[in-house]
Amino acid sequence: MESHEGQFYDALAALYNDDWGTVYLDTARRLFAAHLQPHLTPNAHLLDLCCGTGQLAAALTADGYRVTGVDLSPGMLAHARINAPAANLVTGEMSTFALDDRFEAALCCFNSLNHARGVRHLIRTLLNVRQHLLPGGYFFADLVLAEGYAHSWNRTATVDVLGGECQMVFRYEPRRQRAYCDATLRLEGQPQVQVRMRQHVFSPKEVYEACASSGLRLESLSPIPGDPPTGRVLLLAQASQMLQP
Ligand SMILES: C[S@@+](CC[C@H](N)C(=O)[O-])C[C@H]1O[C@@H](n2cnc3c(N)ncnc32)[C@H](O)[C@@H]1O
Repeated sequence: MESHEGQFYDALAALYNDDWGTVYLDTARRLFAAHLQPHLTPNAHLLDLCCGTGQLAAALTADGYRVTGVDLSPGMLAHARINAPAANLVTGEMSTFALDDRFEAALCCFNSLNHARGVRHLIRTLLNVRQHLLPGGYFFADLVLAEGYAHSWNRTATVDVLGGECQMVFRYEPRRQRAYCDATLRLEGQPQVQVRMRQHVFSPKEVYEACASSGLRLESLSPIPGDPPTGRVLLLAQASQMLQP
């Protein structure tokens, strides 16, 4: 079963909106307030890359920021348009989206950067982010490292959804640095839908090197505490003051 991440998130958008869209929200807001906000002007224009169903974009616009959200999945963006009506929401791929705006900061939250499909895609994504930042702008993201996948990606889960259920099989392949989620959506009166999502498991060294070769100076790659431990790290990087075209 091969599937494009956009198809996975399109199929599961309603479930994501009802369930997972707020799981990381408090953590993201706390980290934002502690690590990014001190660098921003009050009404800064922010890029929410892989904005999903837009709960973070909604919180940021309520705080007075201007927010542009980019996501691959039209299904996720449809929810984001309801949740975050003040945000500008655009369909786009992380390494190729092209906007005229330049941002004080870009955010990429809740495992989204792990959707880069390997080191080269990560570098292309960081280069694209850097090109959308103002000189000296910040990139704020989280990443799940190998220990996080080892801890939480070998399991199955069945979740009730409106009119049916969704079964998910999570699988981590350490040798290939990949993690998968195979989801089967069974809704009454509808054909069964099977979709796959893949994440890439980057080492800290790969992340350091990808930032360096994308013109982003890594300020920190520090564990985000959690109980149970999440294996998630906060990435904070700054674009140089003298940006190349
Ligand atoms: C785990 S969700 C996180 C959503 C949101 N940031 C949050 O905190 O809830 C990952 C999001 O990344 C998007 N995504 C996956 N691959 C992408 C890509 N290559 N380019 C842009 N968005 C992508 C998905 O559509 C999905 O909305």
